[in-house]
This record gives sequence, C-alpha cells and structure tokens, in this order.
Amino acid sequence: MPAKVRKAVFPAAGLGTRFLPATKAQPKEMLSLVDKPLIQYGVEEAMHSGIQNIIIVTGRGKSAIEDHFDVSFELENMLETRGKTDLLAAVRAVSDMINVCYVRQKEALGLGHAVLRARELVGAEPFAVVLSDDVIDSETPCVRQLLDIYQFFAAPVLAVMEVPRENISAYGVVDAEPVYHNGSSDRLFRIRDMVEKPKASEAPSNLAIIGRYVLTPEVFESIGAVEPGSGGEIQLTDGLKHLLRSRPVYAYRFEGTRHDAGDKLGFLKATVEFALARHDLGSDFREYLKSLKL
Ligand code: UTP
Repeated sequence: MPAKVRKAVFPAAGLGTRFLPATKAQPKEMLSLVDKPLIQYGVEEAMHSGIQNIIIVTGRGKSAIEDHFDVSFELENMLETRGKTDLLAAVRAVSDMINVCYVRQKEALGLGHAVLRARELVGAEPFAVVLSDDVIDSETPCVRQLLDIYQFFAAPVLAVMEVPRENISAYGVVDAEPVYHNGSSDRLFRIRDMVEKPKASEAPSNLAIIGRYVLTPEVFESIGAVEPGSGGEIQLTDGLKHLLRSRPVYAYRFEGTRHDAGDKLGFLKATVEFALARHDLGSDFREYLKSLKL
C-alpha cells in the first residue's frame, strides 16, 4: 500500500495581475464566487477528499487568507449577541475546518518555486497540490479522483482536461498514452513528456494540465534541479518533466467541470453558474437573467 496522502499544498503567493486593481491589496484567492472565497472551495474539496492538513504558500499582502481561516472573536461575539445563529455557524465552520499552516514565498518566482517552499512542512510523504483559482464542480471531488489513481498505481498523477487547440498555449500540455483502467481507456494516461505553454502548432496533444496534482516527495529534488522556464519562472511542469526521467507519472482526465476563476471571463461564468445553483438565490437570479435584454 502506498503511503496515505495527509497534506495538501495551496500555492497562493502569485501576484494575480489579471485581476488588478482588485488584487492590489487583496489576494486573488480571496475573491468570492457568490459569498465564498476561491480558496475555501479548494480547501473544502481537499477536506471532502479525506485530507485534513493544509499548507498555504503565501506572500506579501496575503494576510486576509490567514485571517479567513482564523477565529474571529469579535465577529463571533457580535453574531452570538444578535442571535444570528446561521451566520455564526457559517463563520465557525471556516475556522473549525482544518489544520492549517503557512509558509512564505518571498518572491513570486513561479509555481514550482512556490511548491518547493512547502518542502519542510510536507516532509517525506506524498501530498496533493490545489490551485484555488481552478474551481471544480464534480460529484466525486477532483482530488479524491486523483487519490484513487495514486493509491492504485503508487505514482504521481495530474488532473488534465481536453482544451481546444486555440486555447492550448495557456496551459502545460502532456504527451501521453492511454492506460486501460476501471473498464475504460479514455481517462487515464501515462505521460511520455510535457511542455509548459507550447505554441498551438507545437502542442503534443489537447490534454491540458489543470490545478490539481497528487505528488510524491521526489518531486522536490526535481523542482530544485530545473532552471527558470516559461515567463522566467520556476515551473512545476518543468519539475514534473524532470521527475519523468526516474518514475512513471500519470494524467487523469477527471470527471466534472472546471471553472477557470483566475481569468475574468471564467470568473464571471463561474459566478453565474454557482449563483444559479444556489437554493436561496437561484430562482430569483434566473428570473433576473431572463429579464435582461441580451
Ligand atoms: P497563476 O499562473 O494564475 O499566476 O498562478 P498569478 O500570479 O496568481 O495570477 P496572474 O496570472 O498574474 O493573474 C497559479 C497559482 O499559483 C500560485 C498563484 O497564487 C495561483 O494560486 N503562484 C504562482 C504562487 O504561489 N507563486 C508564484 O510565484 C506563482
């Protein structure tokens, strides 16, 4: 049996330039879909996948994330005094949710570099990585889907999705061969190679890496061995490509819908879909949308 995955790393030290000026003094990870910050969706997904220890990689200007997962004594006291029990429960649920610890990435030198900053806290065990600007709506949490593959193959596994050619150069892309698993050969792939942000004409496939990974601790050595790549950043994809030299790495075309909430249009679409799905808001919001002259 491979070692159990107990920890999830949340890189949250990026500059969030696509959302400026909203992200000038506020972390992108704290932008809300309806009324819940992006990072909380990711943390809940990890929890529902059976992971209870969260490591958040933060940077300058990210203290709102720490406050969000902390106890807010004054707020709880006020809600209690005013008898707002539902809101009190919602606020308490956040701080009761997890064991969380933080490590700083002093400079935003890339996603690979951010993951490497979590090395001491992860130690010599397998771990998940969750990028909270990818919000995934699925019956089985996406991290859980990856953990099932990890447990079967005892190997690192990345979530991938099919992306149209014209958009592929925004992603890390895998060159991979199908693996027969659980009665089908169109979900699981063994990776032969991978490339970060290729030109559309040079992309090895239409399978793009999205922000969910289950990794083994050898990846830290591999990230440490790579030079800055695309955009001058230490890329996680380059570290994983290096890891491929010494062990198999799998890609899993997960079941569910991924919303790219790190992009303005993706964020707006996710907001509409999440609002429509809400019991307390959905029907009024649907009526409102129908009333718009589009
Ligand atoms: P993005 O590629 O979305 O970059 O990072 P970004 O800086 O957050 O946003 P833009 O592109 O400037 O708008 C993906 C994830 O990796 C984290 C980010 O916080 C985000 O969760 N990240 C990225 C780091 O933690 N450190 C880095 O150096 C880069």
